[in-house]
Amino acid sequence: MANELGIAVGLSLTVIAVTLHLVRGTSWKPNEDISQDVLEHRASTVPETEFPEPMNRSIGGGGAVGAVGAGDAGAELEEGAEEEESTSPADIPEDEIEHFDIEYTKEGETISVANNETLLEAGEEEGWDLPYACRQGQCVSCAGHVADGGDSRDYVEHDNQEMLDDPELEDGYVLTCVAYPRGEFTLETNETP
Ligand code: FES
Repeated sequence: MANELGIAVGLSLTVIAVTLHLVRGTSWKPNEDISQDVLEHRASTVPETEFPEPMNRSIGGGGAVGAVGAGDAGAELEEGAEEEESTSPADIPEDEIEHFDIEYTKEGETISVANNETLLEAGEEEGWDLPYACRQGQCVSCAGHVADGGDSRDYVEHDNQEMLDDPELEDGYVLTCVAYPRGEFTLETNETP
């Protein structure tokens, strides 16, 4: 009899324990996924930058902003480059303009040429039919020769001439389409090295 009572008590305790376990088990809920909230909160606390963020540092769509911003930055740089002071003799400021007497020996005249004007332009303004082709210092069609002797660079400043080498310049040759006077001299037009 005592044995049967013990078994009954044991069974009851087991049933209670299993019931309790099941009740607890069914009431368990997984924690809510708050990762999105955390990301949004973090994005809202970071101020928008004025400069483009690299893609791997952008937050909450900043990548697209960065990509657009990169284009803007490029445009700003180009604008900045345009604002840089020109080094071309053609852009000499008004108050630094000087004039030099240049004798065009084949044309038989001496004319006053400004230091922001090419020898070719000055001759054309006189109505002379001087030779030229590219007008950019990239051929030798407009070449001339300083008859005073010596290096032509003592008399003119070339703006980006790409054709005459040092010996030719030392012999007095110039490309009149990109040559600006820096002193008085005698010029022989239509003279190629
Ligand atoms: S015209 Fe071509 S270099 Fe002067």
